Amino acid sequence: MKIGIFDSGLGGLFLMRAIADAMPMYDYVYLGDTKNLPYGNRSRDAVYDLTENAADYLFKNDCGLVILACNTASALALRKLQHEYLPVNYPDRKVLGVLIPMAEAAVERRPSIVGVLGTRGTVESGVFIEEIRKLDSQIEVIQNAAPLLVPLIENDGLEWADPILHAYLAPLKDVDSLILGCTHYSIIKGLIEKFIDEDISVVCQTDVVPQKLEEYLKRHPEIDEKLDRKSNREFLVTDITKNFKELASEWFGDGIELELVTY
Ligand code: DGL
Repeated sequence: MKIGIFDSGLGGLFLMRAIADAMPMYDYVYLGDTKNLPYGNRSRDAVYDLTENAADYLFKNDCGLVILACNTASALALRKLQHEYLPVNYPDRKVLGVLIPMAEAAVERRPSIVGVLGTRGTVESGVFIEEIRKLDSQIEVIQNAAPLLVPLIENDGLEWADPILHAYLAPLKDVDSLILGCTHYSIIKGLIEKFIDEDISVVCQTDVVPQKLEEYLKRHPEIDEKLDRKSNREFLVTDITKNFKELASEWFGDGIELELVTY
């Protein structure tokens, strides 16, 4: 069986690369729902339906474990998938998100105040606040939605990012840890760090999730022993354009072949 990595688009390729670099032996299948992106401004029901369809496709295609690299899907769809969809459809498979590992990493740094930058869907869900408070009820969490960042990153628009980042990060200037709660923000971690105090520790999914996944697989040998170890990689998308092909090469590396799928 394979490890499935799902994102609304191609930003999750950064996490796929970090995970595959940390654990190169497994077989991975990436699925980017490029036809329906962005998810960040959609309703809970819409994000759930799109994520369930994608997870269903990955499980039908021999994934033993699916990771929702998309923070918006992790925030709005993960719990229902785990509690309602999986027990009925694939009781022996697993679906994991990226919010809990990042909340854990932020809390491990013993902050008084944690900041969260994310899409509207992720911020409005309040899931980061809930997960951080489960770990330490005394921590204050300040969130800000940054809806303009994903389009800027995807459209080569970073030359216009400075005033936008300045405005999005201003309410988060007093935090101790800052969670970058979106697939795309790991790409601009260095740029974000220029706008915040150097004492703020930045929590980014590409730095955190691979190690947390490795630990998870050690704790769950019943999953780990089902995973194939032939180092195969597949890159599936629901729509292909010239821009998607260029972004995939830029973000994952030349030679990446996107395969169009429908489900
Ligand atoms: N993948 C999404 C996330 O991490 C960002 C892009 C989108 O809005 O679809 O929240």
